[in-house]
Amino acid sequence: MHVRLFKPSVGQEELDAIADVFDRAWLGLGPKVAAFEQAWAEYVDAPAALGVNSATAALHLAVTALDLPPGSKVLVPSMTFVASALSALYNGLDVVFVDCDPETLQMDLDDLERRITPETRAVVAVHFGGYPVDMPRLMEIAGRRGLKVIEDCAHCAGGRLDGRALGTWGDLGCFSFEEKKCMTTGDGGMLVARDPALVERVRPNRWLGIDKDTWKRQTGYTAEGADDARHWHYEVAEAGYKYNMNDLAAAIGLVQLKKLPAMNARRGALIARYLDGLADMPGVRPLLPYQPDAGHAYWIFGVRVEAGRRDDVIRHLKARDVATSVHYMPLTLHPLFAAHAGATPVAESLWHEMITLPLFPDMTDEQVDYVVDALKEAGAARAPV
Ligand SMILES: Cc1ncc(COP(=O)(O)O)c(C=O)c1O
Repeated sequence: MHVRLFKPSVGQEELDAIADVFDRAWLGLGPKVAAFEQAWAEYVDAPAALGVNSATAALHLAVTALDLPPGSKVLVPSMTFVASALSALYNGLDVVFVDCDPETLQMDLDDLERRITPETRAVVAVHFGGYPVDMPRLMEIAGRRGLKVIEDCAHCAGGRLDGRALGTWGDLGCFSFEEKKCMTTGDGGMLVARDPALVERVRPNRWLGIDKDTWKRQTGYTAEGADDARHWHYEVAEAGYKYNMNDLAAAIGLVQLKKLPAMNARRGALIARYLDGLADMPGVRPLLPYQPDAGHAYWIFGVRVEAGRRDDVIRHLKARDVATSVHYMPLTLHPLFAAHAGATPVAESLWHEMITLPLFPDMTDEQVDYVVDALKEAGAARAPV
């Protein structure tokens, strides 16, 4: 049996939505993007949302929206994808890496507090794997120490903590709709903010800095009674980016959003089945303290094994045609961040134990059982010491 690692769950409804966009023949930034932004804002209960082409773009613009002074430092966990840290670098700011808690693998908030200096202005809180950062505590620290909070929700679209959508606890929230994520638009992202002025601050920046996008100019031209011969006029006040979402992606997103609660629930059920299967397995334990019924949205299911055995287990699963990966080699170990090597010892040691296993909404119970069996065999195949 072949088991993929991730697989987007898309079908006829998404195809119909794309056909509709083709029929209207407006494929770029247009009314579908506006409709998706509104639907997303309502879904997470945020006052404003901005559709972009990736979470990487959303994170970049989130830091831009804060207008931090030059020399500011931004706290970022080392146990994350590089985009979380690039958000600060793209804005010419310094990254300060924070270590992870050995159990939850989320940012260690004691370590975070220790690293705050007068130059520290913001923190990028990553809900790694979909397990939520302790947001009540982080917001208390941020309030007391004067930090802005950006939530990186690339792994947890639709996830909630204490009933409140992740992405709306901090000042800004960034979501990913890249093809493997909780829901997809092919590639795509969304920025939300508690203060709508922050979203408006960067709205032109997602479209090269232009104050009036093509759809608005077009509407000004065609609207009934419009007679403004200067409908085409726009101005650029700041160097922006070509970061916009387009109507094709937004049309897929509107369909995927309807399916998101069911897809997240299915992932939760699959995780519960994995946890049952792993319960008595020596030498293997869940990557995160999963709580499948808590309203979180998990993107990664993984396990931890003895560091020295990881590659053998990966090889064994490969021989059984089970795809695996490792999320993540800590950022401090990449050449780009060589100056920070050693800064986060817990993450830099723990990542050797981590294996990501298959998880996607259309995965069957039989596939979970197959992966669990393969893991058991890998354990049994362990050479006696
Ligand atoms: C934690 C995290 N943040 C940001 C991103 C960037 O997302 P995107 O691919 O939509 O730019 C990813 C992508 O995997 C991620 O894992």
